[in-house]
Amino acid sequence: MLKRYLLKIVLSMFCVLGLGCEQGPQEAKNPKIVIAVDATFVPMSFLNDQGELDGFEVDLIKAVVKNAGFDYELVNVEWGGLFGGLITKKFDLVISSITMLEERKNRMAFSIPYLQSGIAVLIRKDIKKVDSLEQLAEIKATVGAQINTTSYYFLQKYEGIKIKTYEKFGHAVIDMANKGNDGVVGDSVQVNYYFNQNEELIQNARFLGSRMTSELYGIVLNKEDIELKREIDASLKELLQNGMVQKLHKKWNLGDFSVVPVPN
Ligand code: ARG
Repeated sequence: MLKRYLLKIVLSMFCVLGLGCEQGPQEAKNPKIVIAVDATFVPMSFLNDQGELDGFEVDLIKAVVKNAGFDYELVNVEWGGLFGGLITKKFDLVISSITMLEERKNRMAFSIPYLQSGIAVLIRKDIKKVDSLEQLAEIKATVGAQINTTSYYFLQKYEGIKIKTYEKFGHAVIDMANKGNDGVVGDSVQVNYYFNQNEELIQNARFLGSRMTSELYGIVLNKEDIELKREIDASLKELLQNGMVQKLHKKWNLGDFSVVPVPN
């Protein structure tokens, strides 16, 4: 990405110096951008039955980059590799239900937010007389979360709770079904999706309260891609304002667990 920009700058300097500056006829308005998603987070981004990337965020990012006039390529990267790959320029954008956190903002740039969500807690029904996280801590419960997520950071605040971490959120849910943990914490959209899709889970688990936090999701970029950020923000803002993002929210049944923000 950066290299291409530098090349463009060098080429335009040739123009200024009158040294010839023909552009290849096949050159697109903008260079192709590479977008990484973690396709394990249904219904946000996942592989569908045809093995293609699909979901709310896949639809959204395609619309945003197309609207900004970019050619793009989507790559499937696991959660643990997203930030490192972005920083080392393996890709230009990441969209994967990533919460805008101050600590992350120090290292990476975020677009304007496209969704307001939060986390939800599901516990096994056979854990009786527990109605709060404090009580879960008192009984020294084991609670599962995906590593290095806001759910994981949230659980760290409760001394007494034993945190069991997983590379994928889905693994935490499977483990709960096998009584490997007493409950799970995850982004409310995913927790609800798993709950509603799975008869066994409905039989054997229950929600502890409702949405516990308010978090904003943003598209992540490299800090120095200032021009790209400007174009992505402008495009996203347009789609937030013209109802396109709201339409996708409806298409993917995100319901009350997340809200499309109105940009100012
Ligand atoms: N919103 C949470 C966070 O930013 C969890 C994101 C996990 N996303 C994923 N694709 N696995 O920490």
